[in-house]
Amino acid sequence: MTPTKITPAALRAMKSRGEKIAALTAYDCPMARLLDEAGVPFILVGDSLSMVVLGFPDTTHVTMADMEHHTRAVARAKPQALVVADMPFRSYETVTSAVENAKRLVAAGAEAVKAEGGRAIIEQVRAIVAAGIPFCGHLGMLPQHVLEEGGYKVKGKIETEHQALLADADALVAAGAFAMVLELVTRPVAAEITKRIPIPTIGIGAGADCDGQILVTPDLLGMLPWFNLKHVKPKLNAAEQMRTVVREWMDEVKAARAR
Ligand code: KIV
Repeated sequence: MTPTKITPAALRAMKSRGEKIAALTAYDCPMARLLDEAGVPFILVGDSLSMVVLGFPDTTHVTMADMEHHTRAVARAKPQALVVADMPFRSYETVTSAVENAKRLVAAGAEAVKAEGGRAIIEQVRAIVAAGIPFCGHLGMLPQHVLEEGGYKVKGKIETEHQALLADADALVAAGAFAMVLELVTRPVAAEITKRIPIPTIGIGAGADCDGQILVTPDLLGMLPWFNLKHVKPKLNAAEQMRTVVREWMDEVKAARAR
């Protein structure tokens, strides 16, 4: 069967059919190709780029230029998957900058953009959607706010957070978002949002009831042993395997020189 290009509508249809959506991040062309060949329908050029590729302590350091550069690399893989690019910190503070920067990401090859927040950025979301750019929301723990929040905290435990999440989710749907990431949201609240809204919820540390799950690919592959994450059990110990293979190859190089 010829693989078909994944669109926002295709992801919404997956929710209607009860088909779970497995989403992963990519920051370069070969990784995007491998994920696409594995059949991943949703590839996020995440601003986690900041930490997992560029070596910064959090996502507030990544720039529009960084995101454009890595979005171009991912888009060169021409994946069947939908390519969604994160709008970096402070790139959507006003309606004008949000639309301008979303257009830049689309020019770099993104087929949709994602930004963090609900009602606080709703004018920006409406304007991005009105410009014809598919928009994916991101609620719960918002990594771009980690400095003001003082850490990565689970959201929805208290009633005010629960009600705020429902109102933000409703607002994003009304503004035309086609999907939303729920990050570190309590399982019951994530389940409630998932039932309540017509668009897919993609969870990360938000329990199994979301319409899909997203992970940072290097976390899934065990490439970053320095980060200790509760919500992901690596499926591979790539870091250890890489160290072993590199040491073996170095031994071969040294043995050849000694001969
Ligand atoms: O930047 C990222 O990788 C993300 C995912 C964790 C959802 O936003």
